[in-house]
Amino acid sequence: MPARLVVEPRPHAISTTPGHGHLEITGTEDEDGGMQSDFDRLAALSQDELWDDRAADSYDTPGEGMDAPEVVGPVVDRLAALANGGPALEFAVGTGRIAIPLTARGVPVTGIEYSQSMIRRLREKATAERLPVTRGDMSTTRVDGDFSLVYLVFNTIGNLLTQDAQVECFRNAAAHLRPGGCFVIELWVPDLRRMPPGVPAAVETVEDGYILVDTMDTLRQHLISYHFRFGNGHEAHLGRTPHRYIWPSELDLMGRLAGFELESRSADWLAGPFTHESTSHVSVYRLAG
Ligand SMILES: C[S@@+](CC[C@H](N)C(=O)[O-])C[C@H]1O[C@@H](n2cnc3c(N)ncnc32)[C@H](O)[C@@H]1O
Repeated sequence: MPARLVVEPRPHAISTTPGHGHLEITGTEDEDGGMQSDFDRLAALSQDELWDDRAADSYDTPGEGMDAPEVVGPVVDRLAALANGGPALEFAVGTGRIAIPLTARGVPVTGIEYSQSMIRRLREKATAERLPVTRGDMSTTRVDGDFSLVYLVFNTIGNLLTQDAQVECFRNAAAHLRPGGCFVIELWVPDLRRMPPGVPAAVETVEDGYILVDTMDTLRQHLISYHFRFGNGHEAHLGRTPHRYIWPSELDLMGRLAGFELESRSADWLAGPFTHESTSHVSVYRLAG
């Protein structure tokens, strides 16, 4: 899951224990005596705290990984085609990984982004004249413009941690689109087959000096990615990111609540067929013309 691999927002300690067929997260007592799960504590952080200077400064990987031309190129090609000559709005534009090359393709792009640190990084690469960005929440913030395309890539709808906020995000996309416009979402498929009954966590990645473990709460559709980085010594750095995962069918229903119909779903940006083995999808939702 690309977006979950790159970010180490904050160091923290964790405590999880296996439940019986479902996730059970051991809570810790707060100063006021209340019990909070790890997810609740992470959910209480703002996107500014999760996507802070440290995360923003290490986000870009020029020329490789998620910034490699073979990764970015097909995204930009597809989005430019879907914009169909009109302007585009990117929700959660980040440091401009996609928006900047899309403007270079001649598509006028506006961004909405919550994290000041991510906007600061974007501004080191693109002026406000070239790429205007409004700071705000993608589920509620309105910007001026009449867009032919709104897009939200790299699994980022999962950063909204409630179903209500995710539905509002669809409604906000619809509010920015002209009739016949489309909303494009790139999202991973929940990987529950990796979770045997009674086991609350899955090891997603093991590399030299890096381990990624995901815990899933299948009741609330919550997931936390725990990124451990370590060297030769005894110390490790832990970064954590909270998500609410969404099934493709639930995503389609969110689209319908906002007036969209699913136009196409592919496994990737090159329009590969989406099957029951697909781990990710690119979904195009369209408003009536
Ligand atoms: C994985 S990055 C994706 C950035 C960019 N779209 C890309 O593809 O590289 C997620 C971004 O979403 C932003 N974000 C998370 N929740 C948000 C929200 N509710 N409203 C606006 N931005 C949000 C974060 O600050 C971060 O910049």
